[in-house]
Amino acid sequence: MARRNKGALALLVCICLLIASAEAEAPYRFFDWEVTYGDISPLGVPQQGILINGQFPGPEIECQTNDNLIINVRNSLPEPFLLSFNGLQQRKNSWQDGVSGTNCPIPPGQNFTYHLQAKDQIGSFFYFPSLAFHKAAGGFGAIRIQSRPRIPVPFPPPADEYTVLIGDWYNTSHKALQATLDSGNELPSPDGILINGKGPDGANFTVEQGKTYRLRISNVGLQNTLNFMIQDHDMSLVEVEGTHTVQNSYTSLDVHPSQSLSVLFTANRPARDYHIAVSTRFANSTLNSTAVLRYAGSSLPVSRWLAAGPSDVNFSLNQARSIRTNLTASGPRPNPQGSYHYGSINVTRTIRLANSAGQVGGKRRYAVNGVSFVEADTPLKLADYYNISGVFRLGGIPDAPPVEGAAEVRNETAVMDSDHRSFVEVVFENSEESVQSWHLDGYSVFVVGMDVGNWSEQSREGYNLEDAVSRCTVQVYPRGWTAILIALDNVGMWNVRSEVWARRYLGQQFYLRVYTPTHSFRDELPIPDNALLCGRATATNSSRLASRY
Ligand SMILES: *[C@@H]1O[C@H](CO)[C@@H](O)[C@H](O)[C@H]1NC(C)=O
Ligand SMILES: *[C@@H]1O[C@H](CO)[C@@H](O)[C@H](O)[C@H]1NC(C)=O
Ligand SMILES: *[C@@H]1O[C@H](CO)[C@@H](O)[C@H](O)[C@H]1NC(C)=O
Ligand SMILES: *[C@@H]1O[C@H](CO)[C@@H](O)[C@H](O)[C@H]1NC(C)=O
Ligand SMILES: *[C@@H]1O[C@H](CO)[C@@H](O)[C@H](O)[C@H]1NC(C)=O
Ligand SMILES: *[C@@H]1O[C@H](CO)[C@@H](O)[C@H](O)[C@H]1NC(C)=O
Ligand SMILES: *[C@@H]1O[C@H](CO)[C@@H](O)[C@H](O)[C@H]1NC(C)=O
Ligand SMILES: *[C@@H]1O[C@H](CO)[C@@H](O)[C@H](O)[C@H]1NC(C)=O
Ligand SMILES: *[C@@H]1O[C@H](CO)[C@@H](O)[C@H](O)[C@H]1NC(C)=O
Ligand SMILES: *[C@@H]1O[C@H](CO)[C@@H](O)[C@H](O)[C@H]1NC(C)=O
Repeated sequence: MARRNKGALALLVCICLLIASAEAEAPYRFFDWEVTYGDISPLGVPQQGILINGQFPGPEIECQTNDNLIINVRNSLPEPFLLSFNGLQQRKNSWQDGVSGTNCPIPPGQNFTYHLQAKDQIGSFFYFPSLAFHKAAGGFGAIRIQSRPRIPVPFPPPADEYTVLIGDWYNTSHKALQATLDSGNELPSPDGILINGKGPDGANFTVEQGKTYRLRISNVGLQNTLNFMIQDHDMSLVEVEGTHTVQNSYTSLDVHPSQSLSVLFTANRPARDYHIAVSTRFANSTLNSTAVLRYAGSSLPVSRWLAAGPSDVNFSLNQARSIRTNLTASGPRPNPQGSYHYGSINVTRTIRLANSAGQVGGKRRYAVNGVSFVEADTPLKLADYYNISGVFRLGGIPDAPPVEGAAEVRNETAVMDSDHRSFVEVVFENSEESVQSWHLDGYSVFVVGMDVGNWSEQSREGYNLEDAVSRCTVQVYPRGWTAILIALDNVGMWNVRSEVWARRYLGQQFYLRVYTPTHSFRDELPIPDNALLCGRATATNSSRLASRY
């Protein structure tokens, strides 16, 4: 018996080594990117845009599960810059997350090489500039992670796939918008909607009659939920942020800020041009825009069509609830994702996070549980690693909103602490009139419930504990709540943020430190050799302090 165990152990070791070497041999893809300012005029008005290798939007990252992505970013802006990768989980590697709490900015004229891996992931995501208000100037682009060749995909290969980056847009400069926020004011409504960086009918997609296409849609805008529809064509939803979904048919889909999804549609209508329509939802004044869907060989122009998307919250809520995981479909691995029974794991901690708007010193701030995040002079991850005290306060965010009446806002560089391998329920509570969109870096989370009204313990009875979708960005409806379950299995310092960009800029974010006392490379990768230093993490400081490790 003992011998057999030894044999089994040896076999296991062998398999582990095989897996390890297979991982080590995952292909490398190299990207060399230069970031510059350049003139763009997507809404017909010239303005300063952020270009990557001269492109707006930036180049696409096309890769496969487990690929290593080596992205050298040269900052040719006259100011600091960072890119972050929405939805890339950065397993054990928050060093590469590219937000101000994890990385020093790339100084003007310098470069930083990101070492990323699309570890155990598939799906549609995007990258974006994370500092200042750069996102309002572009600098974003699509990420597509394809399944590995022998992993089944739950639909026949489409004839082609197209990236569709949609977003609200201001025709004024990002610096003017930032100045508005810095002076304590709110932003006006956006001026228009862009589709792949272009204004009305600027983008076009050509299809052949009878064929089926995949669209990978991401909302890269600053604040608005966007409704997406294709004139006279239904869409079948197949993926949201890395999860293969039950393939329901929709005539229109809501895409909340920073969410991504994939649809299939078949070009099965009479050959002519059709409109792809994108319009804002839940906004005070509706904006809309169109792109052209062109049947190859047809010269019939697009017919007039006013995309009247639905406008009530119930419609959107019901649609959100209909989005479920296809439990028999493969994910990044051949075993169906449903084999992970998230619904039967005991929750070890419940965290309720309420957004609010307030004033600090006469200026507009946004908060989470009454705390409005302020940036530190040193990335929190580096401060934590080098044990530099006084940069942030651990435990600064309470696990529940302040009781009513005490809901004033204070500014703080607050970090929430949590234990590696705990299983956490997070309830986002929104008592405001606008839709919220929340994102957690480093993770994909199970969206088990959402509703309008107040959350209570009874709300748990309605949770979907079978086939909830796992994604990285979740919406919360006006005066409503959304509940998620998370297995905290990724050590690091992770940004939890509002994807309504002005709210994030003015404090509706914080960092979640997923901690383990054992400093093992099995749990967290070592600090990269090329890590930039800044603030209180200086070269002399860090070489002295690093000896602790
Ligand atoms: C800058 O780019 C060079 C290669 O051109 C690379 O060797 C170096 O590590 C990069 N710098 C950083 C900080 O990543
Ligand atoms: C779920 O995935 C399976 C396996 O790939 C596929 O055959 C089936 O059509 C999918 N079902 C739905 C409802 O999407
Ligand atoms: C920006 O867009 C708004 C709304 O579409 C328009 O009223 C305004 O004139 C535009 N600004 C400039 C500088 O053209
Ligand atoms: C269609 O889009 C492509 C780029 O995607 C562009 O090169 C082409 O000029 C566009 N065609 C028309 C008629 O707008
Ligand atoms: C609509 O306008 C009102 C009043 O200006 C404001 O309080 C509210 O937040 C706005 N709603 C949205 C969705 O922007
Ligand atoms: C789309 O915008 C145009 C111009 O602002 C407006 O005339 C039209 O009514 C809008 N359509 C919808 C469905 O909101
Ligand atoms: C939305 O649904 C709720 C019940 O879930 C109902 O009370 C409310 O009247 C509905 N609102 C609309 C506009 O249909
Ligand atoms: C979960 O909690 C229940 C009741 O507290 C307990 O009986 C059960 O053993 C726990 N399950 C696991 C997997 O820990
Ligand atoms: C970190 O530094 C503080 C003082 O700044 C000290 O009290 C603490 O013991 C240090 N922690 C570790 C793990 O070295
Ligand atoms: C929901 O909670 C708020 C306090 O956060 C309270 O003012 C309101 O009355 C509650 N609404 C209902 C329907 O219980």
